[in-house]
Formats: sequence, structure tokens, C-alpha cells
Amino acid sequence: MAVIKTSTNWSSFFNSLLSWYAENKRSLPWRKIKDPYSIWISEVMLQQTQVTSVIPYYERFLKEFPSLGTLAAAPLEKVLKTWEGLGYYSRARHLHDTAKEVREKYGGELPSHHKDLMKLPGIGDYTAGAVASIAFGEPVPVADGNVWRVFSRILLLEELPSAGKRKILKFLSKFIPKFDPSLFNQAVMELGALICAPENPSCRICPVKEFCRAFHKEKISEYPKKASKKEIPHKIWAVLGAVCQGKILLRKREEKGLWEGLWDLPSASIAKQSEAGEQFQNMVEKFYLEVLSKTISLPPIKHLLSHFKLTLYPFAVEVKNNPDVKGYSWIDYENNPHPIPVPYLKIIRMIKHKMQNMRQY
Ligand code: ADE
Repeated sequence: MAVIKTSTNWSSFFNSLLSWYAENKRSLPWRKIKDPYSIWISEVMLQQTQVTSVIPYYERFLKEFPSLGTLAAAPLEKVLKTWEGLGYYSRARHLHDTAKEVREKYGGELPSHHKDLMKLPGIGDYTAGAVASIAFGEPVPVADGNVWRVFSRILLLEELPSAGKRKILKFLSKFIPKFDPSLFNQAVMELGALICAPENPSCRICPVKEFCRAFHKEKISEYPKKASKKEIPHKIWAVLGAVCQGKILLRKREEKGLWEGLWDLPSASIAKQSEAGEQFQNMVEKFYLEVLSKTISLPPIKHLLSHFKLTLYPFAVEVKNNPDVKGYSWIDYENNPHPIPVPYLKIIRMIKHKMQNMRQY
């Protein structure tokens, strides 16, 4: 493993970075506060989700659960419903578990040190580092995708993400400025988001380009090093959107596995698109549905999960009866209290739209 050379003038690097950040940082809601609970929520939401998409969810979540105590006291399903649309629902489950544990073991106050935060359920190195540094000023670095990209280029790192991130953390823990680690960590992440982008980075206006080895060697596009892409399995499901007088047939998923405990629409696995119509018919028959309207074939929905990609072929149909179907419930789709996975939310939105249009004619 190549050793990181440390001959660069890092205090000059920090000065350039921090002056740039002072002038260019985005005004984000969680940057206006120092409340550890709100910072924790924002950092969990910011994993896997872009800043601009997070803002409305962050505001909605804090309105519903303004303190750690309110989150700890809420039923899980309400937490998941408030999280709905952000995806990666295990993050919301962990937030809820952590809030309960903090209420019980720490009197409702999040611990302030990285090592104690790491003991909480679902808090990993990134979240512990972000909360400890941003909310409590502990000088610990963080390495998210942005930090990883910035320092891979600056230091010309050959490692792939997991080994590379460890190396960057080790390196930064020696250099992170003690006077304001919050500012430093956020400035690097902001640089990664606004300047040192994955594609077509704005090197011309980068405040630290003079420190960047990849820039000097004209090798920006070669860093960070990428693992060769593994083919991930592709699953295809036919989906039934059965509507009866403002209600839609939903199923509560099992408490284990994909989308545990969330609600989705009846779905059947198929090998290829051409089998979708037949599987839809099978579901209609299996549930003894009496079809009223013409079947509407909706545009396919593609969704990427951590272990496979999914294509859903949805069909919407109005039915005359709403028979009891074991494991399923007819739910008011305008006012549904249950949390639903993102691709199914998209389908339900399309169905609502179609039903409204049908009513207008
Ligand atoms: N990405 C994750 N957390 C961030 C933060 N606090 N500032 C900028 N980008 C981020």
C-alpha cells in the first residue's frame, strides 16, 4: 500500500479551503443550528441521498419529531411513514432504535464522543464522526463519498473505496484542524459536492487545485479508482393495482427481508416483460376480483437496490367488489397511513392520476 506523502503545506491547504467554504457554502437548514439531535437526523438522511432532495424530508421529519424524546416515543410505523420516499428504510428503523436507547441509557442526550456514538444501533463510522465533529466539535474526520473523491484526487490514491477511506481517515485524523473540525469536515464535503464532482469537475475554479496531484498530472478522470462493475441480478415483477371505491389493495410485507414491515401492492415474479399481463390476470383470479374497467398498463418503474435491480410492470384496474384477501387490506389511497417503498409510491401516484382522469370523462 502506497504511503501518503505529507510534504504538502497543509495549513495553507486548509486556509484556501476554509476561505472558499466561507464564501460559497450553501445555506442549508442543518447548518443554522448546533442541536445534536437535528444534526444527527440530517447526517443520516444525507447518506445515500442528495442534499437538495433531503431538505423537505428533513423539515417534515423535524416538524413531526422535534426532539429525540418525541422520536423515541413514536410508534415505528409513524416514523417509517414520515420517512416515506427517502428510501433505505433501515436508516429510519435505526434512528428509532437509537432514540429509544439514548432515552434509556443516556437520559435523552446523544453522547458526544465518536467512540460512544459508535455503540448505538446503526451508527457507523461516518455518522459517529459527523455528529461528534459537527455537533460537539470533536476533532474526528469523516470519509463519505465526497471526501473520498476529493482526497483520492489530491493524494493520487490507488486504493478502492474501503481501503482508501480507511487510509484517508488515518491521514486526516493527524491533520484535521482542532479549532473547528465541523467547518473542516463540511468544507471538504461541500467541495466534493460543488467543485470536485464525479464527472466534469470544475478544476479551473477549485480553491485547492495547486495541492491536487491528479490535477497537476492531468489525471483527474482516472481518480478515484473504481472497482470493476459486477453484474447485479435483475428481477422483474408484475404488479396489480386493484382499486375499489377509493381503496387500493395493499399487502403488509413480512418483518424480515426486503422492505421489512412496509406495505406494497400485490406482485408476482416473472422472467420477462411479455409474461407480465398473464401474471396480472393470475393475481386478479387468485383474489376473486370482479373487473369493472379496462385494464390500464402503466409505464414500467425501474429501481436499484443494494443487491439487485428491479423492474416493475404495473397494471391498474377498477374492481366491483373488495373481497377479503388473506394478508392484504383495502386501504384508502388518498389517506393511507402506512409506509410504502419508493417504487410502489410512484405506481400508486400514477394510479391516482389515472383514476382522477377517468372520473373526469
Ligand atoms: N454530506 C453529508 N453531510 C454533509 C454536510 N454536513 N455538509 C455537506 N455535505 C454533506
